[in-house]
Amino acid sequence: MSTVPSEIFLHDLHPSAAGIRGEVLAGLAHRPKRLPSKYLYDARGSELFERICELPEYYLTRAELSLMRAHAAAIAAALGPRTLLVEYGSGSATKTPLLLERLADVVAYVPVEISRSALGASVERLSGQFPGTQMLPVWADFTQPLTLPEPVRSPRRTVIYFPGSTIGNFDTDAAVCLLSQMRREMGPDGMALVGVDLVKPEPLIEAAYNDAAGVTAEFTLNLLRRLNEELGADFDLRAFRHRARYHPERERIETHIVSRAEQEVSVDGHRFHFAAGEAMQVEISCKYSCESFARIAKRAGLRVMQVWTDPQRLFSVQCLRPAGSMHAHPQPVRAD
Ligand code: AVJ
Repeated sequence: MSTVPSEIFLHDLHPSAAGIRGEVLAGLAHRPKRLPSKYLYDARGSELFERICELPEYYLTRAELSLMRAHAAAIAAALGPRTLLVEYGSGSATKTPLLLERLADVVAYVPVEISRSALGASVERLSGQFPGTQMLPVWADFTQPLTLPEPVRSPRRTVIYFPGSTIGNFDTDAAVCLLSQMRREMGPDGMALVGVDLVKPEPLIEAAYNDAAGVTAEFTLNLLRRLNEELGADFDLRAFRHRARYHPERERIETHIVSRAEQEVSVDGHRFHFAAGEAMQVEISCKYSCESFARIAKRAGLRVMQVWTDPQRLFSVQCLRPAGSMHAHPQPVRAD
């Protein structure tokens, strides 16, 4: 495991063991059973997710990287100089250098990440690559209210970067809540840059979450391994399987862990019964059109200023700002 360079202070707001236990027990008591997807990202889960990003079926990362490469200059120009760049769920932060290279006079970079190991490794790499940029890493669950660290210099604008279509992991109401929280955090002069996966033919979407090599299945089931390790649960990983299905009417992938047989599992001293075939939801990945995303942004008091996509229109990056702000006049949609 890598460490945060010693001259960089890490703001530690990480979720406690008690927090995980409470949320997991509540999810298992819920009917139907469910588990929060953010707990997929421990050290092993973050590693497996990096492998998912390289899979031939997982088009999202490649499409987003290629569109960021093609449009980095235009995106940086839209955000303007002297920004405080805050990244939610930064993970390994592979797209961030594309922005940091182009943005003029960045005041500081604030990655907010739930996986301590991913946060440490990314900050170590970026601080070497961008020695003049203040690094203010925050080890936290970005869905909880945060107090962001203060940079040394004062920024002209706070930009919240939320790439990867992580917004897709939230249902409509939760996504509106999160976007509203971002609007409050960025302030009236702020902007958000959000990566959003687009609706496309079902087979392409389903394949991305059911890869032939089985890495996604391992990623999903790793959640049970983590609960065994951290909460002393006794899930038998061979007795459960991964299932990801696209629901066109809801425009989302729903990922479940399915019990292969009738069984009992103990978690932190509580016993839970699973019927054969019983499914426990662990993740949703919502897909949007430009129209449906503009609608949820509007509900959060944000306006879409510009949209960039890759040539195949698989993925989009959307620039948002508070709807009431003085310069909130949208530009026409910019495809590829
Ligand atoms: C990083 C949350 C956007 O939903 O596509 C990938 C996570 N899950 N394969 C996604 C994920 C299964 C990913 N996000």
